[in-house]
Amino acid sequence: MTHTHITTIVLTIILFLIAVTMQKKGKNIKVLQMVLRVMYLLIIVTGGMLFLSVYTISFLYILKALLGLVMIGLFEMIVSVGKKGKSNLGLWVLFGVALIALLYLGLKLPMGFYLFTS
Ligand code: HEM
Repeated sequence: MTHTHITTIVLTIILFLIAVTMQKKGKNIKVLQMVLRVMYLLIIVTGGMLFLSVYTISFLYILKALLGLVMIGLFEMIVSVGKKGKSNLGLWVLFGVALIALLYLGLKLPMGFYLFTS
């Protein structure tokens, strides 16, 4: 399941970057935005299944899940603010911070790949 989670995340990030670039060029991204929303659901479902499979849910797991949901909110907000043509540098900064924190937490927590130990 961690592999499905990671695969959906990588695909979502690629699609998201394509959507943002197309949006900047003034292209219509309605269909892409719908596909992206399905991807968000898949991330939540795969993440939720991982979360439910944990034997003892620690604080870090709750933080991981909450940050994951915030991250999805940020994907959605960046696309919708971009649509109105407003500046969204602050959102991109949050996006970077949340992504790094999630990768760190996801790879530190015991399931799947286990890169950071301490
Ligand atoms: C875009 C948002 C998200 C990103 C970038 C992300 C990133 C990651 C990464 C990199 C891993 C490590 C997988 C591995 O070790 O093979 C992971 C695992 C996990 N994620 Fe997410 N995730 C996101 C959303 C969510 C959501 C919404 C939830 C919960 C509802 C969630 C719950 C989990 C759980 C429980 C694990 C297993 C942790 C472990 O023990 O290794 N994630 N995630």
